[in-house]
Amino acid sequence: MLVGKHILVGITGGIAAYKVAALVRLLIKEGAEVKVVMTDTAKRFITPLTMATLSKNPVLVDFFNPENGEWNSHVDLGLWADAYLIAPATANSVGKMAAGIADNLLLTTYLSAKCPVFVAPAMDLDMYRHPATRRNIETLQSHGDTIIDAEAGELASGLEGKGRMAEPETIVAYLDAYFDTSFSGIHVLVTAGPTYENIDPVRFIGNYSSGKMGYAIAETLARQGADVILISGPTHLSPLHPNIRRVNVVSANEMYEECVHLFPSCNIAVMCAAVADFTPEKQEENKIKQKTDLTIALTKTKDIAAELGRMKHDSQILAGFALETDNELHNAREKLRSKNLDFIVLNSLNDTGSGFGSDTNKITIIDADGTETRFDMKPKKDVAKDIAAYIRQKSEEKYGQITDSEL
Ligand code: CTP
Repeated sequence: MLVGKHILVGITGGIAAYKVAALVRLLIKEGAEVKVVMTDTAKRFITPLTMATLSKNPVLVDFFNPENGEWNSHVDLGLWADAYLIAPATANSVGKMAAGIADNLLLTTYLSAKCPVFVAPAMDLDMYRHPATRRNIETLQSHGDTIIDAEAGELASGLEGKGRMAEPETIVAYLDAYFDTSFSGIHVLVTAGPTYENIDPVRFIGNYSSGKMGYAIAETLARQGADVILISGPTHLSPLHPNIRRVNVVSANEMYEECVHLFPSCNIAVMCAAVADFTPEKQEENKIKQKTDLTIALTKTKDIAAELGRMKHDSQILAGFALETDNELHNAREKLRSKNLDFIVLNSLNDTGSGFGSDTNKITIIDADGTETRFDMKPKKDVAKDIAAYIRQKSEEKYGQITDSEL
């Protein structure tokens, strides 16, 4: 994926700088062309000579070469790069990047880079979780930068916790995924989160869905080039990728209306939302008083996935989810059939670490052709990658490369 790509690697002054030697070797092995820019402090952790030898290019530290006065242009570097990877990014550099401070070549290049920026923070655990660092990282995300989250483990300080720079293989996988444009030109609809069914102006019937799975799928597909419409019930999450258009809804009926309207112009739909199956027959205009004797009459909502299953034409792929507590495989197969899905992703609440609110999930994909594929327990982001890979394989099997013209 990285063949011929220009990767600019920015090294700031943290102990994890030593890992960048291995990282640059991996990038070169993948066929990338690499240039390195370092801060002055980074030179104390790894020598420019090492990095120049591995990257096969002179390393840049200063605004000009003190020997001959030759100018090192941050603008040219920014233009040369297809991606700018800052690894390790210390708390100090992350803070400066968030604030727009440009007091070295690495930082001026950050401000002038037009390419996507990837930031792999590395610091001690207390620094990593400090509100100032959290805020700075959020600011970088709001600039559109991709944060390659630090990993948990033993730290240089001897403490254990989150703050280690991601492993070189993980960082390369992020870049690979970025340049993987398998879904380029493909329109995907993803539903996510819960729906809220109002009882009166202050109360609703809802569920525990956090939306994490749906958002992770939307992000993964968007990163691989898809144009994603994310129809989201109320969640605390915000999608970060520019290819994602978020449509906010509250109730099952609002989600139904948006899906039915938008599905015809999509190639793929992934139904992750935990849609309420029942809604109050009547919404009270005023708050129901405590003293009232209350029975709420409910009526069934429309089944969105089933409706899209009826609307679906041959060049569309429709995927659903089944969250089950018992008789899992049987129930999931029944949903797959009755909703006319191409495949269904089953997760069982009986698996510890699966389900609402958790950051991990264990899934089985059941295909309309009867095959079952089981996956291990993984972070939801990795589950999203497995589902994206399954969709890709499915679409290639079914139609070869799907293109806009097939719509
Ligand atoms: N779904 C939907 N619209 C509904 C209910 C469910 O689109 N009104 C979708 C979900 O997004 C999911 C799939 O259908 O992709 C299965 O949802 P689930 O809640 O597991 O099952 P239900 O069909 O609601 O059946 P039951 O609650 O009886 O298990």
